[in-house]
Amino acid sequence: MTNVPTTLIRPSDSSRDQLIPLLQEIQTREGYLSQTAMSDLAASLDTPVASIYGVATFYNQFRFAPLGEHVIEVCRGTACHVKQSLALHQHLQRRLKLRPDGNSADGRISVLTVACIGACSIAPAIKLDGEFYGHLTVEKLDALLDEITRPAGDSDKTAKEAEATLPKASLS
Ligand code: FES
Repeated sequence: MTNVPTTLIRPSDSSRDQLIPLLQEIQTREGYLSQTAMSDLAASLDTPVASIYGVATFYNQFRFAPLGEHVIEVCRGTACHVKQSLALHQHLQRRLKLRPDGNSADGRISVLTVACIGACSIAPAIKLDGEFYGHLTVEKLDALLDEITRPAGDSDKTAKEAEATLPKASLS
């Protein structure tokens, strides 16, 4: 059984506003909202699990599958939108055959769409495993994907190529 954050549970916690902090805490702890966690939460609140899903699925901050080994955060803020970030996201959808949960077909890469990541001056920007990359094009994005999907053993060549071609950004 998942540890439901019972310290936060109050008798009226089944309302939407009161559910959100509980869902956030579970996601922070486990990385996503598993079926087990949702069922446990529903049981703890004496609420139908469908009601819990009804709230959780309304917000795109919640995930229902574990994150992959690599996480790409595609900024969809205004500056990035104007600079064609949608095309970058659509390219990722096609190339990685993204499932509805945002994970690649092989589950190794997760793609999240996020609000402004504070790098508007280098829009369109993404974060890959916590690092900023800016002034992206589909070609530069492909170079990044080649880098993280290359089989192990090619890493020396990859690192040199990446340094020469990838648009890693400094925000300072
Ligand atoms: S809008 Fe994308 S970094 Fe600000």
